[in-house]
Amino acid sequence: MYSNVDELFSKMTKRAKKSAIRELLKLTKKPGLISFAGGLPAPETFPSKELEDITREVLEKESALALQYGTTEGDDLLREQITLRYQKMGLKITKDNVAITTASQQALDFLGRVFINEGDVVIVEFPSYLGALQAFNAFGAKPIGIESDELGMSPVLLEKKLAELKAQGIRPKFMYIIPDFQNPSGVTMPASRRKEIIEVAHKYEILIVEDSPYRELRFEGEPQPTLYELDDRGTTIMLGTFSKTFVPGFRTGWIIADPLILDKFITTKQSVDLCTPAFVQRIAARYMERGLFDAKLNDIIKLYGHKKNIMMDAFKKYLPEGVTWTNPEGGLFLFVYLPEHMDSEKLFMKAVENNVAFVVGHVFYCDGVSGKNTMRINFSYCSDEQIVEGVKRLGKAIREYKD
Ligand SMILES: Cc1ncc(COP(=O)(O)O)c(C=O)c1O
Repeated sequence: MYSNVDELFSKMTKRAKKSAIRELLKLTKKPGLISFAGGLPAPETFPSKELEDITREVLEKESALALQYGTTEGDDLLREQITLRYQKMGLKITKDNVAITTASQQALDFLGRVFINEGDVVIVEFPSYLGALQAFNAFGAKPIGIESDELGMSPVLLEKKLAELKAQGIRPKFMYIIPDFQNPSGVTMPASRRKEIIEVAHKYEILIVEDSPYRELRFEGEPQPTLYELDDRGTTIMLGTFSKTFVPGFRTGWIIADPLILDKFITTKQSVDLCTPAFVQRIAARYMERGLFDAKLNDIIKLYGHKKNIMMDAFKKYLPEGVTWTNPEGGLFLFVYLPEHMDSEKLFMKAVENNVAFVVGHVFYCDGVSGKNTMRINFSYCSDEQIVEGVKRLGKAIREYKD
């Protein structure tokens, strides 16, 4: 290789940092280790048998379409099914508001391509989803985190920050919010808070990005209206995905937005991958059309609700005093707060020695320094026995921790 190959790499490539978290997660491959680190759905929720039948039928009856290139905006039948689903939730949309993406991570990348120039400000929750922070960072965004409490992002602090930015002539490109069972915190924003956030967004004319992969995984409490439906000015862009409610392996998600904005995403997608694979889209569409999605979703919700309860009981039993945690009403994750003096990265090493792993919480804070005493725990993937044993080991690691 040329010794000066470095100078050939783009600014974007040079900006992409090797993820510290990936390096830590390599340690979790140790045999016998119980990992609460990943965001993986439970494999037993995958509808393999149903997919076997539908796949065969699609190949028999629709292969000319399913094995061909598709349109960039996505399979019409799938867009219709997704539209119907959201219409039932109360969204006033048509198929023209929906475009299919190669799962949500692609939509996050598109947000960067469509909106972000180097140095542009984006507003994020504090903490926020690491994959989104990385996607925005790739385009040189300057994320500003707004403190969140047990109801999500604070509208008071949001307004304060936006006023400050406005005084400096800065208009953030969008605010990125995960309102349901947030990753990493597990927190859900109630309707009243959503309305307040929208009001502030409208006042300062900021677009809202509502990323909601976990919305339909509610095992307790009442569903809250989407920001999209509460936003009467059509300034919200909503992202959805099959990754947590169906199968992540299909890499299929969607963007719902005003056609003016959606069109920009579709043009962007043309140069990225032409279209999301037509085959998986058609299988997913038939799966939804037959009502299998809903039937399976109920099982998934029951399973995750059960696993969350097992974890809550184990936390109460095995985690030492001074440790607190969120108690999500749905989704896949919860957030743990260690006593202030503790550093979860140091604890991580101790935990791996004890054969248990989690994600260190500071990676979700865009300032790179906050959240040292936090950690994200996944409860969807491990078996009941592994959850109990893993929490026992975690409790032991916390007790053994030395500053
Ligand atoms: C908030 C959030 N957005 C987007 C994604 C990306 O999901 P996918 O690309 O599998 O649809 C995830 C995955 O964990 C997530 O938690």
